[in-house]
Amino acid sequence: MSDGLAGRIALVTGAGSGIGLAVARRLAEAGAEVVSADLDTSDCAGFAVTADLGTATGVDDLVAAATDRFGGVDVLVNNVAVAPYRDGFTDIDDASWQRSWDVNVMSGVRLCRAVIPIMVDRGGGSVVMIGSEAARHPTPRLLDYSVTKAALLSLAKALAFEYGPHGVRVNTVAPGPTRTATMDAYLASLAGGSDLDAAADHLVRDVRKLPLGRMNDPEDVAEVVLFLAGDRARQVTGSEYGVNAGSTASM
Ligand SMILES: NC(=O)c1ccc[n+]([C@@H]2O[C@H](COP(=O)([O-])OP(=O)(O)OC[C@H]3O[C@@H](n4cnc5c(N)ncnc54)[C@H](OP(=O)(O)O)[C@@H]3O)[C@@H](O)[C@H]2O)c1
Repeated sequence: MSDGLAGRIALVTGAGSGIGLAVARRLAEAGAEVVSADLDTSDCAGFAVTADLGTATGVDDLVAAATDRFGGVDVLVNNVAVAPYRDGFTDIDDASWQRSWDVNVMSGVRLCRAVIPIMVDRGGGSVVMIGSEAARHPTPRLLDYSVTKAALLSLAKALAFEYGPHGVRVNTVAPGPTRTATMDAYLASLAGGSDLDAAADHLVRDVRKLPLGRMNDPEDVAEVVLFLAGDRARQVTGSEYGVNAGSTASM
């Protein structure tokens, strides 16, 4: 079965680096018309739109740019997020909560509200939310981030029920530790800035004890996103796919 992605219009957020960039490249390889959105679009694949996706204006501008250029949207990969490290619960003031909520949740809410009706008019589509294992395993160092990822999981499930009858599938990919700029900043804080590979190895083997013994590359996550975005997953909706080297012990 073909993935059917050739010629489809795919919008990827946070596509300037890391997982979003790998997803955008992989969708382009599959023949999709890719719209990549980020604050910094200098490295983006496909048609690049510079936007702050934590604002309503940024989302509106992105959807307008995509539809003006390509006439619609068939695939949405809602990847953008911020993941600030916190000292603890009382470290997080209202403004910090609001920014995490705006970037991590409202970007997805606003984009789905704008794009899903377009997909319905076109006979269907696929939304992939990039969640996190932190949604089900919240950590104090990433407290507000964990809460926003749980909200995104709930949003995906609700949308899958509402829009399945209209041909729109909504799924979540929940990565475990993945070697991106955000992860490297964390590894640098662990390693005092030196030997990030050794810090990654320590995290994988001694701290997280990942059964597969290797941290994800962004491309590992992109492969699963590609599957869910395309027609080979035509019977899959409301699901959550972990890409985490076996990190979660719960069933
Ligand atoms: N890496 C991991 O270990 C891991 C694990 C679990 C889940 N995830 C999830 O995977 C997704 C991608 O993570 P990643 O590690 O690839 O992150 P990343 O390397 O930091 O990439 C995120 C991209 O989003 C951009 N961005 C941030 N705020 C934005 C905004 N307001 N408007 C537009 N663009 C914005 C960033 O731009 P700047 O760089 O300019 O800020 C960056 O290019 C996220 O949803 C994350 O929660 C990652």
